[in-house]
Amino acid sequence: MIPFVDLKTQYFKYKDEFQAAMASVLENTSFILGGQVKDFEDTFAVYCETDYAIGVASGTDALHLALRAVGIKAGDEVITQTNTFYATSVAVELAGAKPVFVDCTPDTYMIDINKLEQAITSKTKAIIPVHLYGQTAPMEAILEIAKKHDLLVLEDACQAHGSMYKGKRAGSLADIAAFSFYPGKNLGAFGDGGAITTNNQELYEKVAALRNYGSAKKYYHDCFGTNSRLDSLQAAVLSVKLKKLDAWNLSRQRAAARYISNLQSCESITLPVTAEHATHIYHLFVIQTETDRDDIIQKLAEKEIFCGIHYPVPLHKQKAYDGMGHKQGDFPVAEAAGDKILSLPMFPELTDEQIDTVCEELLKLL
Ligand SMILES: Cc1ncc(COP(=O)(O)O)c(C=O)c1O
Repeated sequence: MIPFVDLKTQYFKYKDEFQAAMASVLENTSFILGGQVKDFEDTFAVYCETDYAIGVASGTDALHLALRAVGIKAGDEVITQTNTFYATSVAVELAGAKPVFVDCTPDTYMIDINKLEQAITSKTKAIIPVHLYGQTAPMEAILEIAKKHDLLVLEDACQAHGSMYKGKRAGSLADIAAFSFYPGKNLGAFGDGGAITTNNQELYEKVAALRNYGSAKKYYHDCFGTNSRLDSLQAAVLSVKLKKLDAWNLSRQRAAARYISNLQSCESITLPVTAEHATHIYHLFVIQTETDRDDIIQKLAEKEIFCGIHYPVPLHKQKAYDGMGHKQGDFPVAEAAGDKILSLPMFPELTDEQIDTVCEELLKLL
């Protein structure tokens, strides 16, 4: 069996380290905002090359609280790409604002910088580029447009732990950034978790208050805030994993190179493209195929090879956004990609033999 993501192999390989880290929390009963959280935040900030990192309860909360920290409110518009996970846009709604969608490029699936400016109105306050699948968005062009229109930029780095743009880490490229530690991410917890990174002390302090009831001193509430803390058990696990992240990302890059070499001669497969400026850390290995995708997924599953689709329906066509009045054809690149994309198994422990089996079975079907 070749799973889409294999969390068990990794767990059993490092079980003793994980259990020792978790025991340190249990034995100190330091469950909420214990020392493990601050330790992780400090090392994650160093890793991301930012002055600050702050743990929160999920990637969705990281996006939502980052938007609130930069002052997004009801009546504002926030631009993002239509081909992302629903969390990117729901975070905008949670902040009271309206998500505005832009199409993506056909090769890298990044927000299309040539269509970005058309989406800007007098209500636009921020842009959320998504470092989708593990490579960074074209930040230089995005930041230039943002500067011209006086907009804030929030990186959705939920799929890009350790990814780079022109030698700089994802998370350090704009005003503020959001990460998810959902278990299947390149850096994943044993439950939900997230973090915000920034170089701006004021934003850091705002997020610190927002994640903990607007409170710097217990039972004194200086501003609006909620309960969105990264818990100490997750932080302890993440600290163990952070030390291994670069090696795991390298393993993913090796796996991607093998997939590419095995599949490049097949004309009915479009392989992933890495932009010149980017370092891809392959959170997902996404191909496109002209052949009936559902049939391929089913036939591979019969061989116990499991694939995914990220994501089958762009946000502007989701039922939840019926009220926005979008129609088929509004964002043709994302719509066409949504019908053809297929995510092959990808995780650091994926063996050469497993990759070769996936490719062999896939090529038989095409
Ligand atoms: C691009 C993107 N944004 C946001 C999120 C939300 O993160 P979480 O599931 O931790 O809330 C995810 C992960 O699921 C994601 O892939």
